[in-house]
Amino acid sequence: MDESTGRLTKDGIRIHEAADFSGMHEAGRLSAQILDRIAPLVTVGQTTKELDRLITGWVEEAGATSATIGYRGYQHASCISVNHVVCHGIPGDKRLKDGDILNIDVTVIVDGWYGDTSRMYVAGKLGRKAERLMQVTHDALMVGIEAVRPGATFGDIGHAIQTFVEGRRMSVVRDFCGHGLGRVFHAPPNVLHYGRPGTGPRLEEGMFFTIEPMVNLGRPETKVLADDWTAVTRDKSLSAQYEHSVGVTAQGADIFTLSPAGLFHPTYA
Ligand code: MF3
Ligand code: CO
Ligand code: CO
Repeated sequence: MDESTGRLTKDGIRIHEAADFSGMHEAGRLSAQILDRIAPLVTVGQTTKELDRLITGWVEEAGATSATIGYRGYQHASCISVNHVVCHGIPGDKRLKDGDILNIDVTVIVDGWYGDTSRMYVAGKLGRKAERLMQVTHDALMVGIEAVRPGATFGDIGHAIQTFVEGRRMSVVRDFCGHGLGRVFHAPPNVLHYGRPGTGPRLEEGMFFTIEPMVNLGRPETKVLADDWTAVTRDKSLSAQYEHSVGVTAQGADIFTLSPAGLFHPTYA
């Protein structure tokens, strides 16, 4: 059954109705709550598989559905990307070590709406370079969100992120991007985290999409490992990522995945 509402732009981007924002807020809140709840459990010696097992249980307990289990053959409720893993890290048996930084990315479906968010965590003592990388990546996401308003272009968002990151001598990953979402997981447009002002589709009220910049301390190039999922930096440099799901309103961005506990960044007290 096609339950889609609103209309499509010439670029195939769905313009949602006012009532659809509440569905996105429900889904976004659950995904953010799960990322809040996992925070105290990210500790030295913990396995990423155990973190994913807990997340899987919390999605079920909420009566929601994981968007990632069964998605293109992926089998887990989260992606957990440690250190030089850029994204799509598969939860496994390796134990977290002191100083490891990791992104946990959760997407849930609530009443048909998708909530997609990720943030950075640390096991044990946070190193200076890792701290700086995480701060710049978080701030790059927020600079991108600040560029969201009707009439701006997706190139404006990418340009804001790119200039912010490169001005701090770090690099923006080109090989992965944000995406439209709503009643689907990955919809048009591709939300690039680099670009030129005034290029790309124009933002309109009612568009829903993610912004999820990946930032490397070294070069931007990535490669995907033989498991067909895990993306790593080619130069083995540290990588970080933050992701929010947002909707465009007359005022700017409505962030669906705000942390109820105020633990989006930093995730530790
Ligand atoms: N949540 C990821 C994103 O931000 C997608 C993960 S797909 C998976 O778009 F299959 F790897 F889980
Ligand atoms: Co996403
Ligand atoms: Co995600």
